[in-house]
Amino acid sequence: MSDPQRPRASLRTAVVWDVLEDALDRRVKATGKDSLDVLDTGGGSGNFAVPVARLGHRVTVVDPSPNALFALERRAAEAGVAERVQGVQGDILGLFDVVDRGGYDAVLCHGVLEYVEDPAEGVRNAVEALRPSGALSLLAAGLGGAVLARALAGHFSEARRALTDPAGRWGEGDPVPRRFTAEQLTEVVEAAGVEVGAVHGVRVFADLVPGVLVDTEPGALEALLQLEAAAAELPAFRSVATQLHVLGEKRG
Ligand SMILES: C[S@@+](CC[C@H](N)C(=O)[O-])C[C@H]1O[C@@H](n2cnc3c(N)ncnc32)[C@H](O)[C@@H]1O
Repeated sequence: MSDPQRPRASLRTAVVWDVLEDALDRRVKATGKDSLDVLDTGGGSGNFAVPVARLGHRVTVVDPSPNALFALERRAAEAGVAERVQGVQGDILGLFDVVDRGGYDAVLCHGVLEYVEDPAEGVRNAVEALRPSGALSLLAAGLGGAVLARALAGHFSEARRALTDPAGRWGEGDPVPRRFTAEQLTEVVEAAGVEVGAVHGVRVFADLVPGVLVDTEPGALEALLQLEAAAAELPAFRSVATQLHVLGEKRG
């Protein structure tokens, strides 16, 4: 948390990365293996897969987009981890057409549930891919953050529409097909056989403050990152976060 050169992009990933790195560390200790088998469903171009591989783990990315998988391959090569990252074209709803059940120590499902037709089935598949006691890392768009952002931008009717819409969308122009509350995510994860360990709010403030404040004020980015970390687990702030992160462990 003390790197003054930390890029602004870290605002999007810092809280999730800290929680995920700890969870992988715990799996390493619990399994006694140096290198874990990690599955990143909808892993795209490797925002998480490549850093996870840099920790020494083997990562399989399943994603339907050939462009994303191409970018992943290039990024993994640039990071010197090509031999530990495997990209596979596939869909979380047909996951076992391309990967084995019960073959992974950790499964990531980041920014994917918003886009799948049946989020509960997506989560069930992610959990079925885990070994017993494996770690599930789930990140999805939060309803409260969208409502707050629309309201602060002066779009009050859209904010109210998101609040009452079953999918949490603010209108036809909304690029996100589905948003979730922490309760909805927790329920779907528990129903799939996972013990929830922690729920964090991601980007509670980052999307609400003008970028210029963060970019020009010395030390502002670091202070904002610390504020995000401090607020992430507090339910009051979590409920207005742009994204919600659920970390859990497969039962049995
Ligand atoms: C917002 S990006 C997130 C990428 C990455 N997980 C991250 O956190 O940076 C969403 C990704 O989900 C993928 N995706 C969309 N529908 C999917 C599905 N049904 N199954 C698996 N992945 C899907 C997209 O191709 C895209 O790469």
